[in-house]
Amino acid sequence: MTFKIKLLALVLLEISVFAQDASKPPVPEWIHQAVFYEIYPQTFKDSDGDGIGDLKGIIEKLDYVKSLGVNAIWFNPFYESPYRDAGYDVSDYYKVGARYGTNADAKRMFDEIHKRGMKVIIDFVPGHTSFDHPWFQEAAKQEKNKYSNWYIWTNATWDNGGSEFAGKMVNGYGTRFGSYMTNFFYHQPALNFGFAKPDTSKPWQLGTKHPDVLALRAEMKNVLKFWLDMGCDGFRVDMAGSLVKNDNDELKECAKWWLEVREFIQKIKPEAFTVAEWSYPKHALVGGFHADYLHWIPSYENLFRKETWRSLNGVSPNGNSYFDKTGKGDISAFIKDYLDQYNATKDKGYISIPVGNHDLTRININRTQSELEMIFAFSFAIPGVPFVYYGDEIGMKQLYNLPYNEGCYGGRAGARTPMQWNSSKNNGFSTASYSKLWMGTDTSKTAVNVASQEKNPTSLLSNIKKLIALRRTEKALAGYAEFEVLYMEKDTYPFVFARKNGNEQIVVAINPSGKDVEAEISTIFGKKTVKLVGTDVNYVAGKSNTKLMLKSGGYGVFKLLK
Ligand code: NOJ
Repeated sequence: MTFKIKLLALVLLEISVFAQDASKPPVPEWIHQAVFYEIYPQTFKDSDGDGIGDLKGIIEKLDYVKSLGVNAIWFNPFYESPYRDAGYDVSDYYKVGARYGTNADAKRMFDEIHKRGMKVIIDFVPGHTSFDHPWFQEAAKQEKNKYSNWYIWTNATWDNGGSEFAGKMVNGYGTRFGSYMTNFFYHQPALNFGFAKPDTSKPWQLGTKHPDVLALRAEMKNVLKFWLDMGCDGFRVDMAGSLVKNDNDELKECAKWWLEVREFIQKIKPEAFTVAEWSYPKHALVGGFHADYLHWIPSYENLFRKETWRSLNGVSPNGNSYFDKTGKGDISAFIKDYLDQYNATKDKGYISIPVGNHDLTRININRTQSELEMIFAFSFAIPGVPFVYYGDEIGMKQLYNLPYNEGCYGGRAGARTPMQWNSSKNNGFSTASYSKLWMGTDTSKTAVNVASQEKNPTSLLSNIKKLIALRRTEKALAGYAEFEVLYMEKDTYPFVFARKNGNEQIVVAINPSGKDVEAEISTIFGKKTVKLVGTDVNYVAGKSNTKLMLKSGGYGVFKLLK
C-alpha cells in the first residue's frame, strides 16, 4: 500500500516537474520572445534625394518593418559625426547628425515606432569619441582645462605609455605635450573611465575614482538619460568591455560600472533593455547587461561563414562554415564555446547570435533561398535574442569592388549597401544619381527586392515572416526555453536539438551538407508530432527512439504535442 502511494507520488512529481515552465532570466518581459531588426540609417531609405538614408525615410518604412512581425528595432549611430567610422566616431552625443535629420525627427520616429507596438534601442558608443569632438579638442590643448583628463594622455609626446599599449598611442596631436590613447581607429581617442590598477610609476594613469574620471562617467549617464527621455527603450553598447584600462581581473572594474549604469537606467525606465557588444557573456551579463552578442570568436565566425572577419583582416581562416554544402564544417566547436557561456549565464540574461550585422559579411554569399531559410530557422530556434540585419530577410547579397567609404574596410562596404525596395532607380532607395549614393547598390538583373517578394507567398521574405512568427509565438521557442543537444558529432551532419518549455517541446534538425544523412535521437516523436516548417526531412518513430532522415539541404522544425 505505502509502496503504491510512494509510486503515485513519484509519478505525480515527475508530471508536475515536466509541466513546469522553464525559468526566466531577469530581463524586461518584452525581451523573452523578442525579434530585433537592425537598421543602418545611412542605407535604409533616403527621403530627400541626397543619396544618404535619413530618419524621415525610415519613418516612411516603419509599416514594412512592422509587417515582418518583429517587435523591436536597433539603430546604428545617427549622431553628429565627421563619419570617419560611419558614425561610430561621435562628435555630439546629444544631437542627431544633420544628414539624418533633427532631434525632433528622432522623437517622432520613436513615437511612430511605439504607435506600431514596437520598441527601439539605439547605439551608445561610450568608449571613444571622434577626435573632432569639442571635448577632445579641448583636451588636446596644452593649457589645463575641464576636459584635460577626459581622455587618456601620457605626460610627454615622446612617451608611448609602455609596451602594453603598443599600437594604441598617437603622438604629436594638438599643442598638448603628450600622446593620446586610441580605442579603435586612430581618430577615436579612448574616453577616460580610469585604470583598474594604475601603475604608480605612470602618473597619467588615473584610478577609477579620480574626480575627472567620475565627471566623465556622470556625463555619460546624462547622455543615456537624454535619449531615454526622448523615448528610446534601451541601448546596444559599442565595445562595452573596453572602457576601464588594465582591467585584467576578468574585467571586473568595467563590469562594476555597467552594474551602476543598469541601476541608473532602470530608475528612469524599468523596462529598458541593454545589449552589449562584448562577446563574452560571462563578463557582460555579470556586468548587468541583459544580453550580449557572441560573435567575435573564431568558432562563431566559421559557423555561418567561411569569409570571416578575421580572414578579411588578413588572418588565416579555417575556411569551412557548418552551413556550407561542402559539409566540412564542425558545429561542435561552436556549441562547445556556446554551452560554456550559456550554462554560466542563462539565469542572468541572454546570448545573441546574429546571422549578420554591419561588421560581418552578408550571410548571402552564393547561397540558395532554402539554405538561407535553414540558417534563419536555426537562428530563430536557439535560445537568446535573435537579430535580423536589414536586407538579409530578402537575401541581399554581399557586394564587391565598392569604393572605400567612411571606415568600411574589408567586407564591411559590401554588407552596408542600400536596402532594395523595388525595381525602380537605385532599387527604390534614393532618387539621387548612382555616384551620389552613400554606398553602391546591386545593379545586376537578379537584384532582389521587397516589392516582388511581398507578392510571392513562397519568397524568402514570406518564409522569414513565418519563422519570425513562430519565434514570437511558440512557447518552446521563447528565449529562456531549455536547450538540449540531441545529436551532434564532431565533423558530422546533421545537428539536432530540442527546446523545451513546460509541456511543450520543439525539435530542430538541420543538414546543410551536400549529402543525405540520418540520425537517431532518443526523443520519441508521437502521433501528434507536426512539422512547423522545413523541407526534405522525414522520420520513423520507434518505441524508444526516432530516426531522422534528412536529404542534402534538408531541415525541419517539429512540434511535439502531448
Ligand atoms: C564596433 C562597431 O560595430 C564597428 O562598426 C565600429 O567600427 C567599432 N565598434 C568602433 O566603434
